[in-house]
Amino acid sequence: MKADTLITGISQLVTATGVGPKRGIAMRELRIVESAAIAMSSGLIVWMGRGSEWVGKAEATVDAGHRAVVPGLIDPHTHAVWAGDRLADFEARTSGSTYEKILAAGGGIRTTIRATTAASRDDLVAMAKPRIDSLVASGATTIEVKSGYGLTPAAELAMLEAIQSLSTISPARIIPTLLIHVPPAIAADRFSYMKQICEELVPEVAKRKLATAVDIFIEEEAWHVPEAEQLFDCAKQHHLAIKLHSDQFHCIGGVELGIRVGALSIDHLEASGPEQIKKIAGSPTIATLLPGVSLHLGIPAAPGRKLIDAGAAVAVGTDLNPGSSPLFSISEALALAVRLNGLTAQEALVAGTINAAYALGIRNAGRLEIGCAADLLVLHGSDWRELVYALGTNPVRDVWIGGKRVNR
Ligand code: NIG
Ligand code: FE
Repeated sequence: MKADTLITGISQLVTATGVGPKRGIAMRELRIVESAAIAMSSGLIVWMGRGSEWVGKAEATVDAGHRAVVPGLIDPHTHAVWAGDRLADFEARTSGSTYEKILAAGGGIRTTIRATTAASRDDLVAMAKPRIDSLVASGATTIEVKSGYGLTPAAELAMLEAIQSLSTISPARIIPTLLIHVPPAIAADRFSYMKQICEELVPEVAKRKLATAVDIFIEEEAWHVPEAEQLFDCAKQHHLAIKLHSDQFHCIGGVELGIRVGALSIDHLEASGPEQIKKIAGSPTIATLLPGVSLHLGIPAAPGRKLIDAGAAVAVGTDLNPGSSPLFSISEALALAVRLNGLTAQEALVAGTINAAYALGIRNAGRLEIGCAADLLVLHGSDWRELVYALGTNPVRDVWIGGKRVNR
């Protein structure tokens, strides 16, 4: 056996195994190999096991120094491209206003739309790059990035082009999503805008392969179910996958629609109740939790524990964005999911790896296995649970993507 690189001195090599997603009680199953080593060649894992059993030749050997190794984390939900800030919103909310009231008054997401559409594509890329770097440093090796701060097809295309540029300058694997975030402020324009999206934007995005999925924000203050249905019909015609922001503040049928159309994931779910939990658990759709939103907006946490107990496949993301979740660390998002959503450490790791991969429609990622991409993290600690234990410090020492160390 020949390898480009062999990492030795691994106290614990930890991963979910087999094809995912993992649902219910299976979210607790991890394989842990102690005193391990892992060999990589041409960006892939070619061997892994107990260090004493390695008999091949490696061009380079790196000693992990008795530290734990886990799969590279996958952040399945970010809005990492934006301009401006939401400090005024933050101040208003800490003085008694709410996210929904600010949005209804023309602020919130609409403030970010104004700033983002006024910025050049190069500026958007320059502003987003350090955010992506932070996510990578925190352990994210694959990152989904949404558009959604444009309110015209041209502005959404510009955001997707910025995301495409980001993917060429970042070591992370970037997965772009077209997000149809909020409708035009004038109610009479909603219908024509959705028509334009379906007739012009979605076909163009599909033709240019600028996104792999569409997403829409279903909420009283945003889009409603019949409008989302229209978008999803169109997405299907153009072979784009479907994702949804649903049940953040109100249950208005997004979960039911998402399941009906075979969405890859339904994200948020803070307001979901027993009916929604049961329906998601009985479906192949991934429930994506975004604990940064609960922390930052002070809204209830999504029922992660209940979802898993009911048999759902749960993922976790940062939802990095300026308004509802200025959270620049995926490992911290997992740590918060343990505290706020009631996940165990094992479930959090599965939620941030193999299940997050499925939330993006990626099958061969999020686990350490021969033939999979060599995307992995060397932690600072020797016990992998430190990944979700400490708060406010980075538990991740080295980030490897495609067999290359990218953060030092
Ligand atoms: O996932 N709620 C809708 N969209 C984003 C927030 C975007 C923003 O506030 O700028 C979310 O929470
Ligand atoms: Fe979001």
